Amino acid sequence: MIAVDPRLSVAPMLDYTDRHARYLLRLLTRHTTLYTEMVVDQALLRGDPQRFLAFDDSEHPLVLQLGGSDPVSLAQAAQQGAAYGYDQINLNLGCPSARVKAGRFGASLMAEPAHVADLFAAMQQAVDVEVTLKCRIGIDELDSWDHFAGFVQTAAAAGCKTFIVHARKAWLNGLSPKQNRSVPPLNYEFVYRLKRENPQLTIIINGGLDTLSAAATQSEKVDGVMIGRAAYHDPWMLTAADRLLYGDDHPLPTRKEVLEQYIDYMAARIDEGVPLRMMTRHLIGFYQGAPGAKRWRRCLAEEVGRHGDLDMLCQAAAQMELQAA
Ligand SMILES: Cc1cc2nc3c(=O)[nH]c(=O)nc-3n(C[C@H](O)[C@H](O)[C@H](O)COP(=O)(O)O)c2cc1C
Repeated sequence: MIAVDPRLSVAPMLDYTDRHARYLLRLLTRHTTLYTEMVVDQALLRGDPQRFLAFDDSEHPLVLQLGGSDPVSLAQAAQQGAAYGYDQINLNLGCPSARVKAGRFGASLMAEPAHVADLFAAMQQAVDVEVTLKCRIGIDELDSWDHFAGFVQTAAAAGCKTFIVHARKAWLNGLSPKQNRSVPPLNYEFVYRLKRENPQLTIIINGGLDTLSAAATQSEKVDGVMIGRAAYHDPWMLTAADRLLYGDDHPLPTRKEVLEQYIDYMAARIDEGVPLRMMTRHLIGFYQGAPGAKRWRRCLAEEVGRHGDLDMLCQAAAQMELQAA
């Protein structure tokens, strides 16, 4: 088990933070905490654990995010995650999709603080690693400070010490998951106040923080920052994280070096039967902001993504390097 430093993390993102994306992200930053996509407890318990839980050793510090609403199955799923070697287990209380709502989990659980406390207690009792909660500041009409503070108090009374807060409420009726990540306004003040009034808790802020300098400015008010979409659109920005947020001055890799290592990784996975496009899709934003980025994106999405092989990818990368020289 590796200690999880709260200062910076890349958010759990369905369809993005799979093991290939995390392998790539770890080549860019040694210290940033990485999260899995949300894994639904029932799917894990009924399915092939290897498919949901396998990861490369380099991915630590690594958190498994679970979704569910039954204490017994969440505890079992947490146990499986801990046995696989995850450094922390996180429960999703922020996802607003219709599927999640029907299953009485994700953000809808913010209406049931006592149930969340039971879920947390069952999970934490089942494992030695820390269990944490990722929530919103409210849902629907339950968006007052008192509701949010009471929700956190109830979970904290059950023993939860770390809260990751997406600093906007979710509308469960009427907004799509995508809209729920941008339409409800951000309210960082609720998160700062939570930390001020509960200095003993570890509070990580999430939502709309899309540069490392924005993340660094949060350190006086909260214990850490979680970045989602910006890390997806421009993963290269994470190369500055070790120096800026952790004071680790190790020499930075070049894009060429990182690509070479990721290409070796992809070659090994192809031999195991993983389709190339499942891995190259994580490279689409790799040259964000660099000359030729648009051509790179098009080449990956259209040529390499659809019919390509690794040679085609190497040629595209060589062209980018020529352009940068
Ligand atoms: C494509 C996508 C998938 C997401 N999947 C999850 C998920 O599985 N679990 C979760 O807790 N949040 C999920 N989120 C929400 C993010 O973790 C994060 O809370 C949100 O994007 C706000 O952070 P940002 O403004 O830095 O992107 C997802 C977000 C995106 C864009």
